[in-house]
Amino acid sequence: MTKLLITGGAGFIGSNFVHFTLKNRPEYEITVVDKLTYAGNMDSLTEVMDKITFVKGDICDKELMDKLVSETDVIVHFAAESHNDNSLRDPWPFIYTNIVGTYTILEAVRKHGKRLHHISTDEVYGDLELDDPNKFTENTQYNPSSPYSSAKASSDMLVKAWVRSFGVKATLSNCSNNYGPYQHIEKFIPRQITNILSGISPKLYGTGEQVRDWIHVDDHNSAVHTILDKGKIGELYLIGANGEQNNKYVLETILELMGKDKNAYEHVNDRPGHDMRYAIDSSKLRKELGWLPKYTNLREGLQATIDWYTKNDAWWKNEKAKVEAAYAEKGQ
Ligand code: NAD
Ligand code: DAU
Repeated sequence: MTKLLITGGAGFIGSNFVHFTLKNRPEYEITVVDKLTYAGNMDSLTEVMDKITFVKGDICDKELMDKLVSETDVIVHFAAESHNDNSLRDPWPFIYTNIVGTYTILEAVRKHGKRLHHISTDEVYGDLELDDPNKFTENTQYNPSSPYSSAKASSDMLVKAWVRSFGVKATLSNCSNNYGPYQHIEKFIPRQITNILSGISPKLYGTGEQVRDWIHVDDHNSAVHTILDKGKIGELYLIGANGEQNNKYVLETILELMGKDKNAYEHVNDRPGHDMRYAIDSSKLRKELGWLPKYTNLREGLQATIDWYTKNDAWWKNEKAKVEAAYAEKGQ
């Protein structure tokens, strides 16, 4: 058995990673460490609690991370403050968890000589114009826009420096926008689905022409396993599934799939500094490591996600009023 420590395993992608690994890779023995911030939800792990070890704790806690890292073989580091809008309201938790937390893990990994995979985002590259023929590649210069993406960019830089200066055995991946089950309802797709289910009108920032490159969360997680299996130490891999669509199209598709008028939404205040477009060229991962995405039909993926939020209203209902009240304060 290989011992696998998953940070942030009660969050959206981390909990899906736990489920994916238990289903597809039984050779891993899983420990999750998660602080259970507003974004962590134990209900995302209820079904598998007898198959994993769960530790409630902060990745910035040096003693705890030293102990957990010393007891494992591999660390996959998902834990982060992840929402751009929150980072505009209060940047501090993003500096603390994303930068200090990654530093704390790197120091433990350095001391104990363990293998680390660091999870990051395409947002470290800033944004592209709508008509730019280029996509982000591993050679694109970092140019982050928000407190969230600049803190993630900082964490990537720390990982790269610890690889070069201390020979830490780490890989990195930068993925585009994920969707699927267990995503917090503050995020675009689940917010709109749960608005419609709650009789609230969906909310589109600004004109809605911004483009995101959507990938199903299981495709992100299969790519992470491919990197753990075959990735070269010190390398960074971009993960994407050619899922570019603008926000207006995604919202209109959700409305249509839920049997509503496709114009039944409100335009609300735009996000300050709103990135225009993300687009990933994942050729390196595909050619060098042989990875391919499975869920390439966004309409089908959205329908499955709508079905999940409809069936699992107990998972999100208690949070809805609080999330919408915070948005309302900003006219969003
Ligand atoms: P999320 O907000 O849903 O989950 C984050 C998890 O980390 C939560 O369970 C939270 O409790 C935990 N956490 C936060 N601070 C912590 C701390 N100090 N100590 C321990 N645990 C802590 O986030 P997500 O969307 O699942 O994103 C996971 C990772 O993937 C992040 O690193 C994010 O930058 C990256 N990423 C996300 C996307 C996306 O579309 N969501 C795309 C690319 C990369
Ligand atoms: O690209 C990867 C990133 O994707 C990850 O690093 C982040 O953790 C993740 O949150 C996501 O960032 P975005 O800012 O792109 O995702 P969000 O779901 O917040 O918004 C997606 C788009 O939808 C964005 O252009 C803003 C817009 N939007 C968002 C909300 C919440 C709306 O139009 N209305 C909304 O209500």
